[in-house]
Formats: sequence, structure tokens, C-alpha cells
Amino acid sequence: MVLYRGGVREALILGGTGAIGTAVARRLLTHGWKVTVTGRDESHVDAPLLGQGVRFQALERTDRGAVAAVLGAGVDLLLDCACFTARDAELLLPLLSLVGSPVMVSSKAVYMDARGRHSNSPEPPCFDGPIREDQATLPPGGGWGQDTGEGYGRHKVAAERVLLESGAPVTVLRPSKVHGRRARPPREWVFVKRALDQRPFVLLAREGRGVDHPTSAANLAALVELAAEKPGPRVLNAADPDAPEALEISRVVAAHLGHRWEEVLLPEGARPELGDHPWNRPFPIVLDMSAAELLGYRPVGGYSSTVVEELDWLTDLAGSDPWPRELGDGYFSRYFDYEAEDRFLERRAG
Ligand SMILES: NC(=O)c1ccc[n+]([C@@H]2O[C@H](COP(=O)([O-])OP(=O)(O)OC[C@H]3O[C@@H](n4cnc5c(N)ncnc54)[C@H](OP(=O)(O)O)[C@@H]3O)[C@@H](O)[C@H]2O)c1
Repeated sequence: MVLYRGGVREALILGGTGAIGTAVARRLLTHGWKVTVTGRDESHVDAPLLGQGVRFQALERTDRGAVAAVLGAGVDLLLDCACFTARDAELLLPLLSLVGSPVMVSSKAVYMDARGRHSNSPEPPCFDGPIREDQATLPPGGGWGQDTGEGYGRHKVAAERVLLESGAPVTVLRPSKVHGRRARPPREWVFVKRALDQRPFVLLAREGRGVDHPTSAANLAALVELAAEKPGPRVLNAADPDAPEALEISRVVAAHLGHRWEEVLLPEGARPELGDHPWNRPFPIVLDMSAAELLGYRPVGGYSSTVVEELDWLTDLAGSDPWPRELGDGYFSRYFDYEAEDRFLERRAG
């Protein structure tokens, strides 16, 4: 079912004020769509989007009546960026007949290695190679909260299954580490802040070899638009065409900010509080993108070109007063112990 009311396609993005919703809304607007995004707080909407005609509707994702009301007579694309549990998914079921292409944002956190480890388990996972969509997933649900490391992936699996078993043409997307304007958390901040602080060194655990596949929100938006054009029941990985090592990521950031630093590549087994960063993985996590490519996915660019948007946004944010919430949360605190680094480097030099 494609509605094309008056030739204008309509999209509704639930939880649309983060990086994914922002990038998808921007892409669809460019291609002539009418877009509504929802969230809890209008101040989180990317301001330029409002100027370009995006409509914002405040709504609690768990309120079925509110979701139905904003869906109205139906849309061509429903993108759900705030579907975390089977219950969230069930809420959508009676509404799916009003949607041309329903797309749910899941996560690579659903994947489980041969020993039951996953991207949020205390012990890091070790996959045999690039992860395909038919890789084993965690068992659904269980007794953990959906916002815990153990529960997040399990509840995503449960939500996926509700939608995939509905008979509707639901596309489930599994992104990895999302970057883009309004990313939460904006992981590259660990290197951007360092460059803005004019740090003369960057310390990198595991000699900077960690790999955890990035997903540009702009690339994900290309995949969402493709799913809108070709509705169908399916699961697709959603990641960038390349999966750079942390060392390369740090270099992309330093080069973009015009900063030079000495790279201190710490060997395996060095003190864990030194040189940690968000891509610090003993075994690479890479998503196989061939299923998306087969469908026609054409990424807009590789990591180094697509991440620039987030880097510029972060540089602007860093000058804000008051200090922006995106940069202040506890996620980053362990990455900026400059005193411990300086002590280590002094001892090493002396
Ligand atoms: N970020 C990543 O690296 C990553 C990786 C893999 C998968 N994912 C998946 O991507 C999706 C999130 O996308 P994102 O990173 O673009 O967004 P995000 O920054 O996490 O923002 C989530 C969005 O959902 C809204 N939201 C959350 N809970 C809600 C509720 N109870 N009622 C109404 N709105 C609610 C938020 O509204 P407010 O702004 O008003 O709070 C916001 O618009 C999630 O499904 C997540 O599991 C993210």
C-alpha cells in the first residue's frame, strides 16, 4: 500500500529527534516528502528541520491512542526509533494496516556469539567474521530490564519478532555505533574534546586496533528510504561501507580539527584506565552489508566523509553556554582522566 496523497508521500518518525530521525527527516524532505517527527521534548528537534517544514508532535511512545492519533489516516513510511520491547511493538500491530512501509530500528546488540556473548555482555563477543543477519540472536525478553546491558538486546529481539511475525511488510534494521548530528552519545567526542583541549598526546588501548562498525545516520537514512520504496518483511544490517580501526578514527578527527598529537599506542594488557575509547574491542565487530546491497542500498559515503557532520556539530556545541547535555552525561567521564595520562607519560619519559 502506498498512499501518495496528492503526489506527496508522508512519513511519521516515532522517536525522531535523535541522530537517526534527524538524518531520515532531512533526506526525505530533500526528496519531497512530508515528515512528522515525534519525541517527548520539542527542544530536542534539530532546529533547521523545523524551518524546512518538519512537523513535531510531542507524544509518549507507550500511549497507543496518541500514536494512533498522529498516524491519522495512514502514512507511506512509519519509522520507529523508539521501539525497545515486545510491548512497544505490540502497540503498533493494529496500526500496521495504515502504513505502506513500517521500519523498526533495532540494533546489532541482538547478535550472540557461539558462547552466548554479545556487544553489551561483560565479556566481549568474538564473531567468526562479518556478522550476517542469520547470525544467532539472544533469546527474547527474559528477566532483565530493557535498559540494562543484558536486557537491551534481548528485548530488541522480542520486539523484532512481534513485528516480523505480524505478516506486515516490516523492515527491521540493525545498526551498529551510530554517528551523526544529534547522536546520543556522540562517541567521537572522546577525540574531538582532546583536540579542542589541545592535548599533545592521544593514548590508544590495544595499539588503536579496536573495531566496532560505525553506522552513519546519513547512510542509515539511505537504507530507510530504500525500505520505503521497497516494503517487505526482512531484517537488514545497517552500517557504513567501511569499519575503520580506532587509530584511523582518531586520525580522521584530528585531521578535521587541524590538530596534531603524538599517538601513544598502548600494548594489549596495558592499564585499562589508559587509552580507553568507545571502539576498544579485543575482537572486531563488523556487520556484513551484502543483504542491504542486494536490495539496492547505496551508502552516501564512507566513515571519514560522513562523520564530518557530527564533528562540526560537536565543535559548535562545545562553544555553547550552558554546557550542552549531550556532552555532559556520565558516558564520557572515564575517557578524560588527563592527570592519570600525564603521570603515566611522565613516568615513561623519566
Ligand atoms: N545510537 C546508537 O548508537 C544506536 C545503535 C544501535 C541501535 N540504536 C537504536 O536507534 C534508536 C534510537 O535512535 P537515535 O540514536 O537516533 O535516537 P536517540 O538519540 O536515542 O533518541 C531516541 C528518540 O526516541 C524518543 N523517545 C525515547 N523514549 C521515548 C518515549 N518513551 N516516548 C516518546 N519518545 C521517546 C526520544 O525523544 P526525546 O528526544 O524527547 O527524549 C528521541 O526522539 C533506538 O531504537 C536504539 O535502540 C541506536
